[in-house]
Amino acid sequence: MSKAKITVVGAGNVGASTAHIAASKGLADVVLLDIVKGLPEGKALDMAQAKGVYAACGNVVGTTDWDQTANSDIVIITSGLPRKPGMSRDDLLAKNAGIVKSVTEQIVRTSPNSFIIVVCNPLDVMTYVASKISGFDKNRVVGMAGALDSARFACFIAEDLGVDIGDIQGVLMGGHGDSMVPLPRFTSVAGIPLPELMPQDRIDVHVERARKGGIEIVNLMGTSAYYAPAAGAIKMAESILNDTKTVMSCCAWCQDEYNIDGAFVGVPVMLGSDGVEKIITLDLNEFEKSQLDTSVKHVKELVSLVETMI
Ligand code: LAC
Repeated sequence: MSKAKITVVGAGNVGASTAHIAASKGLADVVLLDIVKGLPEGKALDMAQAKGVYAACGNVVGTTDWDQTANSDIVIITSGLPRKPGMSRDDLLAKNAGIVKSVTEQIVRTSPNSFIIVVCNPLDVMTYVASKISGFDKNRVVGMAGALDSARFACFIAEDLGVDIGDIQGVLMGGHGDSMVPLPRFTSVAGIPLPELMPQDRIDVHVERARKGGIEIVNLMGTSAYYAPAAGAIKMAESILNDTKTVMSCCAWCQDEYNIDGAFVGVPVMLGSDGVEKIITLDLNEFEKSQLDTSVKHVKELVSLVETMI
């Protein structure tokens, strides 16, 4: 069987980290594409030379030529502006909508049978743009947010409890923004519900920190996070390529689920070789439902705004 092919669009921090993780795992052959001549070629050459050090490593090619991305199995869109201190993810809307639109047009031309994983912000709206412009079946377009947000939530809980982060299953829903909805009742440590192990006031601190997890990093280093977002995107790509049926929160198209009535938003899904194979419907309580409704409303408002731009 020939090796899978992943294209990573954007050779900035997130894109390069994504390509590097994919290649170093030997998950696929990777094409790293950017519009800035020299940048993807240079980073790919650096990664190719790392093959001398790593045992398992896929090929990495850097290019500015979309034709080299042809017939990718998965295209991961990381291109777009990152946040600077003082900016919300929503401030990136107009600029990044134009970028995602033109990138998606190229994906349709070069890799019409691919799955698209969107990583750029505002995440839920950019996933909508990629879906609308591609016209791909809704299960083939998915946004990376829950993998990152639940990993952040898990990181804070693990530090607090002094337990192995690998034992924590964090569950989050809603948009990838300040209104995201971490769900402590559904979050567990080795199967034990979080509220059994931690008092509510400490849970609240971690919920709030997960919500603000992105800006915490922007404020520290002046730009957006990249290692954890890249790891999240590759976990999703792995689940699709290896048909692992992994359950994780992703930004997926919801119609009848949770009364969402047509929006891309974070929900627990099962990811396999058909992309989003299933959306898992949790029995939310009134408080959780109202938080999700508020988050979905915000995403829908941004989507109406972006409709006038694409
Ligand atoms: C973050 C960006 C990637 O949450 O949205 O760090």
